[in-house]
Amino acid sequence: MTLLVTGGAGFIGSNFVLDWLAAGNEPIVNLDKLTYAGNRENLASLDRDQRHDFVAGGIEDRALVADLLSRHGVRAVVNFAAESHVDRSISGPGAFIDTNVVGTFNLLEAVREHVGGLSADERARFRFLHVSTDEVYGTLAPDDPAFSERTPYRPNSPYAASKASSDHLVRAYGETYGLPVLITNCSNNYGPYHFPEKLIPLIIHNALSGRDLPIYGDGRQVRDWLYVKDHCAALRLVLEAGRPGETYNVGGGNERANIDVVSTICGILDRLRPRADGVGYKSQIAFVKDRPGHDRRYAIDATKLRSELGWKPAESFETGLEKTVRWNLDNADWLARVTSGAYRNWVEKHYA
Ligand code: NAD
Ligand code: TYD
Repeated sequence: MTLLVTGGAGFIGSNFVLDWLAAGNEPIVNLDKLTYAGNRENLASLDRDQRHDFVAGGIEDRALVADLLSRHGVRAVVNFAAESHVDRSISGPGAFIDTNVVGTFNLLEAVREHVGGLSADERARFRFLHVSTDEVYGTLAPDDPAFSERTPYRPNSPYAASKASSDHLVRAYGETYGLPVLITNCSNNYGPYHFPEKLIPLIIHNALSGRDLPIYGDGRQVRDWLYVKDHCAALRLVLEAGRPGETYNVGGGNERANIDVVSTICGILDRLRPRADGVGYKSQIAFVKDRPGHDRRYAIDATKLRSELGWKPAESFETGLEKTVRWNLDNADWLARVTSGAYRNWVEKHYA
């Protein structure tokens, strides 16, 4: 029994791989293309661990995926591989179509062929878990109910549209070919190994390096934050007990406006690592030009996951954020290494 994890050197994928192998002994084959967002260093603690087999390659490489599926006797695929940053999808949508749409299609084709060759029992036990986002549902007004699994898709960014396309393909492979698929749509994650192009790690990194803390528009956009390890726990449950063909929304019930998230991070840093001049980190806040098509509010209704599978998050936003800030302070080397080279070019161009 082996799991094929794709995109397992990225933020959520590496947390999933580390947590999975800490909790049990089922091996993982980890297929990751190592784009700018993939980092082998996240998995350094597994270097000599026989249960983890890292393969550098893309989900679009059907022959490679087919070989991995049959050679390792894979019984489930967990698909994290994606281009994941909204701002990058605005300046360069092509890669999002290549990986999130065409890549997912090729992955599904390889899996379909593999599953077609399994015995009826093996086929019934096989799972294809597609990890997706709440952004496919579009944006909410302040008083709208949170996104449920029945909310219609209305993606607003090229990223969200590409994820929506991949979700539709996965669902269609379930309906048409009987592939035992599961889809999860999760809200914004944060935690260890989060690449500092996304809001929370970017703010921590910029604060510590004396840079501006860029807030788009009026900073009143709302996201529903979930600690990454609570997301990983939800994925393990869905994989184990989710009903094939179903979608599960995952979210922490932690709606926060961006300006409040940034202020809270500043407060934690003022306490844990005060500036030498005694001035609060909030003085570094800078309101900048808004993101085009910026969704105003996301919120997740995770009732189905709670009631069907008994999931609930272990961290509140306050405990999770404190852990995250401490992780960044304790892993300054990691932060320094991932913010060199290509990262600097992106930041200079994007925030110019
Ligand atoms: P990430 O950008 O940190 O990591 C993506 C990983 O995929 C990287 O390791 C990258 O090298 C790899 N990858 C990219 N293209 C690939 C390809 N063609 N083949 C194989 N590997 C490839 O992303 P993340 O934040 O860890 O998100 C993982 C998944 O979860 C994505 O599908 C994303 O849409 C979804 N998601 C993310 C969030 C969030 O808040 N970060 C929330 C909900 C859902
Ligand atoms: P982000 O972390 O990019 O996640 P997503 O766009 O997938 O929700 O952004 C979270 C929120 O923070 C979003 O409303 C955009 C905002 N934001 C800023 O205000 N400044 C920034 O520099 C970044 C990267 C994001």
